[in-house]
Amino acid sequence: MASNDRKPLISGNWKMNHNHFEAIQTIQKLAYALDKDDYQAVDVSVHPPFTDLRSVQTVIQADDIPVALGAQNVHQAANGAFTGEISPTMLQKLDVTYVIVGHSERRELFGETDEIVNAKAKAVLAAGMTPIVCCGETLAERNAGHAESKVAGQISGSLAGLDAVTIGDLVIAYEPIWAIGTGETATPDDAQQMCAHIRSLVMSEWGSTTAASVRIQYGGSVKPGNASELMGQPDIDGALVGGASLDAGDFARIVKFPLYQA
Ligand code: PGA
Repeated sequence: MASNDRKPLISGNWKMNHNHFEAIQTIQKLAYALDKDDYQAVDVSVHPPFTDLRSVQTVIQADDIPVALGAQNVHQAANGAFTGEISPTMLQKLDVTYVIVGHSERRELFGETDEIVNAKAKAVLAAGMTPIVCCGETLAERNAGHAESKVAGQISGSLAGLDAVTIGDLVIAYEPIWAIGTGETATPDDAQQMCAHIRSLVMSEWGSTTAASVRIQYGGSVKPGNASELMGQPDIDGALVGGASLDAGDFARIVKFPLYQA
């Protein structure tokens, strides 16, 4: 882990995978594969589809599993005529701790703008949960040399209006879009460079205390074989894992990355 006080957060984003029976099996297998040393070194969250949340919550509570429950999305309004949507308090009532907002799939496939992501982040915070705010550039943007400015715009737009203390406690996930689900991972150096850039943006807008405490995850084809090197970078404080989180054994090996660090 990096030489700082930030405890890494490894989050499994199951996306639209696992029905509630499969979800129960997965959380049970994960609990079996992890032990107290793992939880001491790393915070762990799983983000099942909405229809699985109640089932996974029940297993976590019945078996006293120190894995935080997370959601993949939320609507920004408290309630009302929004067919098909889920409110922050509905998630909070299920003991959800972390809510992913502005995942690139939400931005690219469902038209979520920085303004919407910002409203969602605020709604999550108002309900007492922690947003994992995602950002990241496309391959075309990277090749055109616009990766840093794209991410800078997403950070200031998505976090607008939040105070320094609040930002210090939330999570930012840097996920280059070209690395998501493609098997193509950013090199540890590239990932580190962008996470350091994000931290410096936070520093210039919200100050050094906030920059030192905000956790920045890397996401994009994180696997058991590359996790420890990525997590060894000084500005990378965890991972948002998609595909490899669906298998409890693979995900547990990623959570155990400190065992593989020199
Ligand atoms: P991946 O997804 O690990 O399958 O690349 C990461 C994510 O989208 O959160």
